[in-house]
Amino acid sequence: MAPIDGLVARAESWARSESENDTGGHDWWHTYRVRDLALRIADREGADRLEVELAAILHDIDDYKKSSSESSGPKAVYLWLLQEGGSETLAKNVSEIVAGVSFKGAGVRDRRLSLEGACVRDADRLDALGAIGIARAFAYGGTVGRALHDPDYVPVPHSSVAEYRAGRPTTVGHFHEKLLLLHDRMETSTGQRIAAGRDAFMRDFLARFLREWGGVDGEE
Ligand code: ADP
Ligand code: NI
Repeated sequence: MAPIDGLVARAESWARSESENDTGGHDWWHTYRVRDLALRIADREGADRLEVELAAILHDIDDYKKSSSESSGPKAVYLWLLQEGGSETLAKNVSEIVAGVSFKGAGVRDRRLSLEGACVRDADRLDALGAIGIARAFAYGGTVGRALHDPDYVPVPHSSVAEYRAGRPTTVGHFHEKLLLLHDRMETSTGQRIAAGRDAFMRDFLARFLREWGGVDGEE
């Protein structure tokens, strides 16, 4: 796609202003990292850079977690791109990616996306893994009032979006309901490679967390 003067910068200021007050791991720096990762993957996979960059920047606009609607974000992005001089194709392609990025439950299949969409979805998921993913999960949990962990909480393999959205898991529960499943859902080979190390780190973290919780660390 041919670049449009200033469009990426305008998308950036829109996304920045929407995420200004976030303290739950969805601040501007999340978007910034997703854009970087998505472009890094796109370059390896030969995807369209403009579509990837715009979708990465706009992927959390009016997200379900803020708007309680699955369609409001993609629709806002579609209309905004048209209004900013983007073509119908660009607006449609980018808003389809935005609509398909989110995880919707362990038992819910991911929507099929274009190569560009796969780059953005992998990048968003990579930012939910590893050291940063751990930090974000506990920040999100704290912001929405979840416990760190409760040994009695049994993780649920949700089979519908509605069930997944209605859940109120502990943050350790969220690792089992989503974060530990993501490395298997990576679509690009670049994403898979990066996910492997981040997933391993997260598993070490959880194992240690539970050792400390159970009072058996330092004895092994
Ligand atoms: P998605 O659209 O797939 O939810 P996002 O980038 O919008 O992806 O946000 C996902 C991040 O939000 C997770 O990686 C995690 O850090 C945090 N998060 C979402 N739900 C929970 C939860 N129930 N407990 C802890 N963290 C959560
Ligand atoms: Ni995101």
